[in-house]
Amino acid sequence: MILPFPAAALGVAAKRSFGCKAAVRLLVALAAGQLFAAGSASAASAGREHSLPRIVQKDGRYALLVDDAPYLVLGAQVNNSSGWPAMLPKVWPAIEYMHANTVEIPVYWEQFEPSPGTYDYSIVDTLLTEARAHHLHLILLWFATWKNGNAHYMPAWMKTAPQTYPQVVDANGRPVDSASPLAPATLEADTNAFTALMRHLKAVDPERTVIMMQVENESGVYGVTRDYSPAAEKLFRAPVPREVLDAMRATVSGTAPTAPTWQEAFGPEAEVNFHAWAVASFIGRVAAAGKAVYPLPMFANVALRDPLPPAPAGTYESGGPTDNVIPIWKVAAPALDLLGPDDYQTDTTAYIKILDLYHRPDNPLYLPETGGSPRFLFFALGRQAIGFSPFGMDFTKTLDTPDLARPKDELLVPWARTGTKEFIAPFVPVYRLLNPMARDIARLSFEGALQATAEEPGQVSQTLHFGRWDAVVSYGVWARRGRPAGNPQPLGAALIARIGEDQFLVTGFYSRVDFRPVAAGRQKQFLKVEEGSYENGEFKFLRLLNGDQNDGGLDFSSVPLVLRVSVASF
Ligand code: DGJ
Repeated sequence: MILPFPAAALGVAAKRSFGCKAAVRLLVALAAGQLFAAGSASAASAGREHSLPRIVQKDGRYALLVDDAPYLVLGAQVNNSSGWPAMLPKVWPAIEYMHANTVEIPVYWEQFEPSPGTYDYSIVDTLLTEARAHHLHLILLWFATWKNGNAHYMPAWMKTAPQTYPQVVDANGRPVDSASPLAPATLEADTNAFTALMRHLKAVDPERTVIMMQVENESGVYGVTRDYSPAAEKLFRAPVPREVLDAMRATVSGTAPTAPTWQEAFGPEAEVNFHAWAVASFIGRVAAAGKAVYPLPMFANVALRDPLPPAPAGTYESGGPTDNVIPIWKVAAPALDLLGPDDYQTDTTAYIKILDLYHRPDNPLYLPETGGSPRFLFFALGRQAIGFSPFGMDFTKTLDTPDLARPKDELLVPWARTGTKEFIAPFVPVYRLLNPMARDIARLSFEGALQATAEEPGQVSQTLHFGRWDAVVSYGVWARRGRPAGNPQPLGAALIARIGEDQFLVTGFYSRVDFRPVAAGRQKQFLKVEEGSYENGEFKFLRLLNGDQNDGGLDFSSVPLVLRVSVASF
């Protein structure tokens, strides 16, 4: 059963930016032509040297620049064990089917460093070669000291030497299945390996096939709120670093002394804040060392704490960049360009809440992992997201009839169905629609000209403001002059960009878009409604729509449709 976009919405397909100053420095360097001279003359790849991908900020908005132009990551993350060469034949067809432009794929530390200080670049090289052959960009996921809180991707030679590479210990001194962020040898080994990876990429990827790096994966620890090792105990009883106090000022209790300990400063949040600082400091050093060698944009993904209401300490993975500790991560890991939420919320309000928590002036919004409805992409685009990557996108599984016969609830476990065509299918219409216009979307978003939204349960219409025009998006309008009733399921979405004074680019699904002059007493008329298709980033005119096609407004169904619309008032 191939599920179209609407079915996905039923819930079946159911993770420091360069600050302003750094971005400005980059732009200045760019203008002065300094940045791209330092290439790899000895590059193994024959490809032309491209500009370095980078994240820039302008007027409070961010863009990921790839080849010097804003780039929207229409991403797809493969399953955890799909980065092995033997699996790649089941990856590329899935990515092509989905119409993604970027693949997020792991690099496994256990494979990369089979013995201390010996690095195996063969799989990374295979990934580059095959991604290029498929005209795709890559975001590499460094599965190393942390993968979902565990150290399961550490090389075996480390796992068998816990005295050198120790685990977190609980309050009773028992080891927990998670690496201690305060172990110097672990930090050194991870840093060396990651730096070797970045050095290699610099040498073999002048084409910038790899556009970003994720450093570790869902870092932190489950089951305890912090490390209780002797090293941790000593630091926990010492004064909180000044920069952490400053970053968290708003939440520090007013009765704390001037150089408070973690407990004195943060009370019930002391342990999670402490562990976040320890993990962020570790990952910040790994990222900084890698960046010193090859400065690709880097990020950390987040195993979230439930946002509504905010989950209390002890009920979520402690140490990662959960929303409550973002300021700590910003000061402890400034080499990270962003902190990206793995947004698997299926409830629309909770999903949006997560977007709002990570769409911050100091944090470009990027979703390294997501699931649920493809219409959530429109909520993300409405918050200037630079990318979106649903998880589990490959063909490593075939869904046989017995699977379909499983209880319905089991099918709702997101990763139970990953790796199948049926799982990917809901995203296809949306990615097929947006892929050819992805550069325009990224540019218009960076310029502040683009807004996007989607249907929220119980909301039948929404109004987007574009200066002298309002765009009214309605859901479930069944007649030419009908009133919006909402779709039977929340399926609707719309994306609108102002491309001229009175001209808009409009697209969407299961929605009606109409324009309304802001000036009192004026009415709208369409001057021209051009249906087109995007080919190689260009709008190609197909026909003018009029009459039944837009007398009631601009109607969008499940069929991908892009309109260029000129309006006037009378
Ligand atoms: C979040 C993790 O970051 C992914 O690697 C994967 O484990 C997914 N959860 C779900 O399986």
